[in-house]
Amino acid sequence: MKLVVPEGSVFKSPDFTVGVATSSFQIEGAAESREASIWDTFCQQPGAIADNSDGTVACDHINRWHEDLSLIASLNVDAYRFSVSWPRIMRADGSVNQQGIDFYIGILDFLHAHNIRAYVTLYHWDLPQYLEDRGGWLNRETAYEFARYTEVVTKAFGDRVYSYATLNEPFCSAYLGYEIGVHAPGKAERAYGKKAIHHLLLAHGLAMPVIRRLAPSAQAGIVLNFTPYYPASAADADAAATALAHAHHTDWYIQPLLTAQYPALLDDLPEIERPDILPGDMQIISAANDYLGVNYYTRARVCYDQTHGFRRLEAPSNSPTSAMGWEVFPQGLTDLLIRLHEDYVLPPVLITENGMACDDTLIDGKVADYQRIAYLQAHMDAVNNAAVAGVNITGYFVWSLLDNFEWALGYTKRFGIVYVDYDSQQRFLKQSAIALQAMLAERCIYTAVQEE
Ligand code: FCB
Repeated sequence: MKLVVPEGSVFKSPDFTVGVATSSFQIEGAAESREASIWDTFCQQPGAIADNSDGTVACDHINRWHEDLSLIASLNVDAYRFSVSWPRIMRADGSVNQQGIDFYIGILDFLHAHNIRAYVTLYHWDLPQYLEDRGGWLNRETAYEFARYTEVVTKAFGDRVYSYATLNEPFCSAYLGYEIGVHAPGKAERAYGKKAIHHLLLAHGLAMPVIRRLAPSAQAGIVLNFTPYYPASAADADAAATALAHAHHTDWYIQPLLTAQYPALLDDLPEIERPDILPGDMQIISAANDYLGVNYYTRARVCYDQTHGFRRLEAPSNSPTSAMGWEVFPQGLTDLLIRLHEDYVLPPVLITENGMACDDTLIDGKVADYQRIAYLQAHMDAVNNAAVAGVNITGYFVWSLLDNFEWALGYTKRFGIVYVDYDSQQRFLKQSAIALQAMLAERCIYTAVQEE
């Protein structure tokens, strides 16, 4: 089974970036050589992680990064998106962990030597525990700490980085982490979610000018996750519920960044749930971005709910689903991109994550993950359809390079295009990786011919 890029598709443009993605806590391990993060602490809470696992070893990437980077190079990708672990860089006493910096510089130099562009995410959820002890994202001061950390990283990395993302999916940090408590730090107060996101967005806005100053040639932006909402029925109540879900979970995150305003919903919130907005905050938050990163996995159907106004339904029983139970719905990606393009003046869009968890099995060194190939094909086609409809899309990253620690689900879900045997730490290219490798090899030949 192959991955095919149709003639004339945006994927064939020489300027279109195709890459693979990972994040620090999910792959690195070596927890002993950095400060603790909120995920280390969360993993200790009984019942927090499905298989009671943690990130102390993960994919042992700290020790095997050279092998992993060589795998990336073998895939013919244009780019690698990875994140820097804040607790591996900044010590609790404010000093810098040079060993941590050197680890990432090794990766960046490898990428440069292999002509692979580095897409660096500064925060993919692993907040230092010492900052959580002072209130974490509920404390405004954390946003200023983030700007200081950004300064250290951007200074140290110099011009090695092609593109910086300040935050990955602040929705998950704020809503899953502070409002419903299924992610670290496991706080569950309705009043916390919107206070936390305000400080996260402020952290983004404060970091942007730092990146501009210290890495002037790098792209700078942010990565948001979106689940497009569809009404469960034709009833007016479900349509209203869908609009409310959209305001809470989509507009709440993108609108302040692009228009310096929260949705009108702000005025309807009870006092206790409102963020603490100080004069000047919205201007800081709405600093211009070079791109918007979009992570997409699935859609959700929504119905009216008396308590919260809306409720997400499980995937319909007759629909195809991933091992996460998420509906496979490529049209949702096209719809989402077109809707965002209609609602906002978007900077160029990058699909920074897209992929599928499958019940992969390793047989004689092979993993026949044809479902994943079909998923990737359908979603690349969905991206192209949005591009044809007028959305400016400049790249696509597969989540993920490796099977890894899937947060609250531990090691039970495999998203990688490379299989990791956690006992031996051996890596095996799945059929999806082989298909991507072949697709990109063909694309290289095509773009070389085009450029002649
Ligand atoms: C996204 C996260 C990423 C991974 C995928 C499956 O929400 O950014 O780390 O867990 O989901």
